[in-house]
Amino acid sequence: MSSNKKSGFSHEVIETNIGLMIVLSILVISFAGLVQIVPLFFQHSTTVPTEGVKPYEPLRLIGRDIYIREGCVGCHSQQIRMLSSEVQRYGPYSLAGESVFDYPFLWGSKRTGPDLARVGGRYSDEWHRVHLRDPRAVVKESNMPAYPWLQHASAEKFDVQSRMRALVRLGVPYTEEEIAKAPEALKGFTEEDAIVAYLQGLGVGGRAAAAEAVSRGALQ
Ligand code: HEC
Repeated sequence: MSSNKKSGFSHEVIETNIGLMIVLSILVISFAGLVQIVPLFFQHSTTVPTEGVKPYEPLRLIGRDIYIREGCVGCHSQQIRMLSSEVQRYGPYSLAGESVFDYPFLWGSKRTGPDLARVGGRYSDEWHRVHLRDPRAVVKESNMPAYPWLQHASAEKFDVQSRMRALVRLGVPYTEEEIAKAPEALKGFTEEDAIVAYLQGLGVGGRAAAAEAVSRGALQ
């Protein structure tokens, strides 16, 4: 320790002064954080949609809100990691560009149930309806809760236009015409229809591009 003293400003000064230690730690961590985070705002792979990925149609957008309301994200992640076991089980790993229209993103971190990032098209609509009403009817040992009320609730009551306008402000390219027609697209549909539509679209658009990235071994 004493040998450090020669240089005038030694580590001992910082290590024995908790206030200074805190200030300097915050400075170092903030700088390191910025170096990691800031480039992501400008990198194409995180800001440009993956080929094939489109903004949610009105019914799917409402389905996504119901998914959030019902807390599905508490048991299901939507992010396939770059591990071969995950790619074998769920499909091509998720690319950042597949989530550019997700506000907020629903990657999640809890996997009581399987990852849903590419569940779209894996089952029929009918399977999803039976499963949502009573998971045990199709998977005997399932501990997923049942959501029987969704089939009786109308999707028409959602103010889809305000949601789309808010998303436009965040950069999602909905046109005025699409916003004007949106309430029409919910006519006659239930909340169950909306959530099934949402699930059936998950991971479908970007699948081909993601599969290509996986086969190239590319990290996008
Ligand atoms: C308490 C945790 C829990 C919650 C909350 C939950 N799930 Fe599940 N989910 C599971 C489990 C466990 C499974 C696996 C067994 C099964 O298929 O039922 C599963 C399976 C699924 C599957 C089939 C996935 C596959 O690849 O086979 C879908 C789709 C699904 N859940 C959708 C939903 C939706 C939509 C919601 C919200 C409305 C939801 N889950 C809420 C635990 C949960």
